[in-house]
Amino acid sequence: MRFTSPLEAVPTSNPKLLAWVERVVDLCDPGKVWWCDGSTEEYDELAQIMTETGTARWLDPELRPNSLYVRSDPADVARVEDRTFICSQRHEDAGPTNNWGDPAEMKAHLRGLYEGCMEGRTMFVIPYSMGPIGSPIARIGIVITDSPYVVCNMHIMARVGTKVLEALGDSEDFVRGIHSVGYPLDSQKKPDQPWPCNADNKYICHFPETREIWSYGSGYGGNALLGKKCHALRIASVQARDEGWLAEHMLILKLTNPAGRSKFIAAAFPSACGKTNLAMMNPTLPGWKVETVGDDIAWMKFGDDGRLYAINPEAGFFGVAPGTSMHSNPNAMLSLTKNSIFTNCALTREGDVYWEDMLDEKPAFLVDWLRRPWTSESKRPAAHPNARFTAPASQCPVIADEWEDPAGVPIDAILFGGRRAKVVPLVTEAFSWEHGTFLGSIMASEKTAAASGRVGVVRRDPMAMLPFCGYHMGDYFTHWLEVGAKGGANGEVAWGTMPRIFYVNWFRKDEDGNFLWPGFGENSRVLKWVFERCDGEGEVQETFIGLHPTAGGLDLEGLEISQADLDLLLEVDPDDWRREVTLLHDHYFQFGERLPKALADQLTKLESVLKAMAG
Ligand code: OXD
Ligand code: MN
Repeated sequence: MRFTSPLEAVPTSNPKLLAWVERVVDLCDPGKVWWCDGSTEEYDELAQIMTETGTARWLDPELRPNSLYVRSDPADVARVEDRTFICSQRHEDAGPTNNWGDPAEMKAHLRGLYEGCMEGRTMFVIPYSMGPIGSPIARIGIVITDSPYVVCNMHIMARVGTKVLEALGDSEDFVRGIHSVGYPLDSQKKPDQPWPCNADNKYICHFPETREIWSYGSGYGGNALLGKKCHALRIASVQARDEGWLAEHMLILKLTNPAGRSKFIAAAFPSACGKTNLAMMNPTLPGWKVETVGDDIAWMKFGDDGRLYAINPEAGFFGVAPGTSMHSNPNAMLSLTKNSIFTNCALTREGDVYWEDMLDEKPAFLVDWLRRPWTSESKRPAAHPNARFTAPASQCPVIADEWEDPAGVPIDAILFGGRRAKVVPLVTEAFSWEHGTFLGSIMASEKTAAASGRVGVVRRDPMAMLPFCGYHMGDYFTHWLEVGAKGGANGEVAWGTMPRIFYVNWFRKDEDGNFLWPGFGENSRVLKWVFERCDGEGEVQETFIGLHPTAGGLDLEGLEISQADLDLLLEVDPDDWRREVTLLHDHYFQFGERLPKALADQLTKLESVLKAMAG
């Protein structure tokens, strides 16, 4: 449904919504306003517009039906953490790990940028629901954007359109997002760009107290699809703190054993560390099954039985393409065979997409993501390392039956993990919820291409939430401890009704830099041990950092791995950990008085055990 004037026949009578849209129209001065209804016709029409403006082209319909191929501006290829701000009223509430902006000053500055920023463009109003419409865990947002690419992606990533407006009714309870690519078409002489953006002037701003998101200048991924990182993590983490639930950067999977018993596992890994792969894995262990509930975000609330129930607030996958193949993740490959959007991948002569490691044999000729000819002799990658696919979750061959259950799924275990070449063993079970919170709080990972910056540098990324927590991380840790206490886990009672917590590392390397663990489907061996531990079974050995499988505790049947490699994978070296503890002091120091005492005590305890071991 489209309207040349927002005041004509709008599909809602929600007074707060209408007043807000009107204010944004006055400010941004679009040529037209388009209230998104979420229909297939709408998607098709926008796709058509994008092909006409050069933003997108259709892939060969025989090879990849109904799929769009998009290349962004090279200056707009990833989340921009240095341009991401938490604009809480008080500076200290954003904490030391977020950029802060004074809300009034930031809004004044952005109003200046927004003024007339949609001139010559269509302004889209997208009503969306994060989570199945009507689920008590789901939340509604409205995003205003001038990017048809954003609308098409939101069609896949969230539930959008008229049905959301109907669910909203006259309620004021919705997150308000404004997004502009920051490239007004204000003069006849200025041509549009295939990927309009404002590369030198990006702002991704969150106003947690008023539940608002103002994004400017970038059209890419988490900067622009505001339902995802901005709403479902940064704003939702604040709502979750205020209301006693958890909004986390976690996949959700259903693990079924050969006897047909299932458990649900949530897992937090930093961006581009294999969440999508784990969520859709084909286990190598005979008789075991993994099915997907979500691959990136989990919202967890207490059920009447005191357990945490999780929904996936998203409806699609916005996955990292390079490295995805029929070997690494066949179920992702099968999810994106049609009705998908590909951004910054390479293009084959036949009109299909390609990215690094997609096929056993590289194509001889491609056009790379920068529109340059590429041959298999070329030294540079053909796709950008953060190239993405956007695919409907419903197309995943192993999507779990429960994935849209409005009540969510009961979580049995939570995994934390990152990329660590050294120090961190393959799997560790926490002693208690409190200790698990400690392990989550000290997580670190080598940086990937999902955000701009230098790849490979180890950085602390507590609970994989460093770029996504909408408030002070010290308070976030306190919230985790409080949620645990609510579920009956406190200093004396290890778990209560809470999920058990595990810390995994698939990425440990030997001295020569080779991965020690094959990963992918073989990770089912670790999941099996986790499953057993949740039932109080499985063989364990204890170290100062937690509980680990004994040498015979992991099912290694059929896997070729040397004893030396296995020993190294499970090794917990006191010297490594003494060095780690020194770094952890610096990490914890930044949280000042807001670091919960229980976590400071965990660190002191670890340190004294290590001292005692040194004699
Ligand atoms: C993502 C990310 O896109 O974490 O999921 O960067
Ligand atoms: Mn993510």
